[in-house]
Amino acid sequence: MTKKLLRVLAGEAVWPPPIWLMRQAGRYLPEFRALKTRTGDFIARCTTPEIATEITLQPLRRYPLDAAILFSDILMLPWALGHGLEFAAEGPVMPRIVDQAGVDALDFGRVEGAIAPIIETVRRVRAALDQQTLIGFAGSPFTVACYMVEGGGSRDHALTRQMAYSQPALFDSLIERLTEATELYLAAQIEAGAEVVMLFDSWGGVLSPTLFRRHVTVPTKRLAAYINRRYPYIPVIGFPRLAGNMLASYAIETGVACVGMDTATDPAVAAAAIPPTIAVQGNLDPLSVVAGGAAMRGEAEAILSALRGRPHIFNLGHGLVPQTPPEHVGALVDFVQAGMA
Ligand code: CP3
Repeated sequence: MTKKLLRVLAGEAVWPPPIWLMRQAGRYLPEFRALKTRTGDFIARCTTPEIATEITLQPLRRYPLDAAILFSDILMLPWALGHGLEFAAEGPVMPRIVDQAGVDALDFGRVEGAIAPIIETVRRVRAALDQQTLIGFAGSPFTVACYMVEGGGSRDHALTRQMAYSQPALFDSLIERLTEATELYLAAQIEAGAEVVMLFDSWGGVLSPTLFRRHVTVPTKRLAAYINRRYPYIPVIGFPRLAGNMLASYAIETGVACVGMDTATDPAVAAAAIPPTIAVQGNLDPLSVVAGGAAMRGEAEAILSALRGRPHIFNLGHGLVPQTPPEHVGALVDFVQAGMA
């Protein structure tokens, strides 16, 4: 029998829906924190296959989830291209792209070697799974570009938007190079056993509609077309967080099999605007899982009811936060898998 998650991605409405959770492996799990203290820095954990495999599998040992997501980070691609990366206490830090020389310095020659341990993790995780689906991922070119232009995280991405307006050829060339690198990176994950790939677009929502089409919709369409042509059996999930009223056009124009909805999206509105052949994923508020109990169940029930009868993968609207009690995650998975009983 085909796995539930893959049936939904093929356009089937499955009840109760399959469930996995963004950041299901992470700091809220005591077993993750225990391993973290023994294993160097974040980049070392991502590039040591024994450790990354173990972290990927930890949540699946606790909960009957439908999918595993590779333990890595969207910023490991610029890292593999030779752009520096460090995870400081306040988040990721890297050099800033300010000119064409910065874009031209991205070194495609070192990608294959640099990602080899990550690809080995994909192979090991796939070999360890039975009924769960393995999701590979990358950041969207735009979201990765945001971190490279800002030199790390940012509240408003002002430098990035400013570059997109005042140096369009430079910004286009950065997006183009990242799109090309993302093709290589996703293809390598698929060849190693990823059964689905997801594009995390955390910051596309800061763009004007014109720039959103140019730097989010168009590159995503190119990536989805590349995957659909080369690996027609591999579905693509796009997650354009904060896309607001651009969500439906993104879903329709990019050719993705599924769109992720963020916490603020009304699932009934999204369901009405997106053709039923495209699956939707989401979108429980991760903070409701910190609260747990009736507050969490009420929110989950509203989502499940709104999307019953159409292809839906239950998930959060953003990642689990470190203060989440692990037993609330278990209660959520049970509630969804019992069809709200
Ligand atoms: O979902 C998963 O568990 C899979 C692994 C995964 C991580 N990051 C692990 C991680 C995935 C899919 C990501 C995606 C990612 N990374 C995004 C897109 C999704 C989103 O959150 O909007 C972004 C923007 C990043 C960049 C990033 N990585 C930031 C801003 C930070 C620091 C802030 C934070 O959330 O801790 C990271 C670090 C990071 N990536 C951690 C993990 C488990 C925490 C590192 C640690 O504490 O050891």
